[in-house]
Amino acid sequence: MIKLHDKSFKPYLTGNEIQGHIKQLASRINADYQNKLPLFIAVLNGSFMFASDLLKNICVDCEISFVKLASYQGTQSTGSVKTLIGQDMPMKNRNIIIIEDIVDTGKTLYEFLPIIRSQNPASVEIASLLVKPGALKYDVNVKYRGLEIPNDFIVGYGLDYDGLGRNLNDIYVINSTGNND
Ligand code: IMP
Ligand code: MG
Repeated sequence: MIKLHDKSFKPYLTGNEIQGHIKQLASRINADYQNKLPLFIAVLNGSFMFASDLLKNICVDCEISFVKLASYQGTQSTGSVKTLIGQDMPMKNRNIIIIEDIVDTGKTLYEFLPIIRSQNPASVEIASLLVKPGALKYDVNVKYRGLEIPNDFIVGYGLDYDGLGRNLNDIYVINSTGNND
């Protein structure tokens, strides 16, 4: 059990389990993107660890760039997505793979995808380590998903609770027993 701010969290996925899911995702991408020079766009902050470990397992020629978006405050989605740092790589005719840590309501990507598509890429797909199908409210198609999880708040491996927990090697789920001591 770990404590971050006022909440406690219990172990959910080990670093080894996470790496196993990433290797499976990477081998699908490697097979699908031979000679396509994919341009990965990693969504900061949450995806920094996933992006790093995913790219270490990609063996086709590729490039990566980063954007910073925000739609979360505390444990609730705030509902408005702001691009904080725009990516600067030309996307016209490129095969884009967006890297996300987690797709929750889908709002972030639903608002971000038109920005990408407006630049006329050859293709756009999404790779997300985690998807919460029970929370999905927007129509986004996550082709490469590491793992589907229940609609519970998690931290670790890049994911934070009000800034804390991003450094953890494992993923933890919020303790919903009501006993947060
Ligand atoms: P969405 O726009 O509702 O799909 O939320 C996507 C973003 O919210 C993700 O990129 C995360 O940064 C954040 N997020 C969603 N669920 C969680 C969670 O369980 N823990 C920490 N951050 C989360
Ligand atoms: Mg994120």
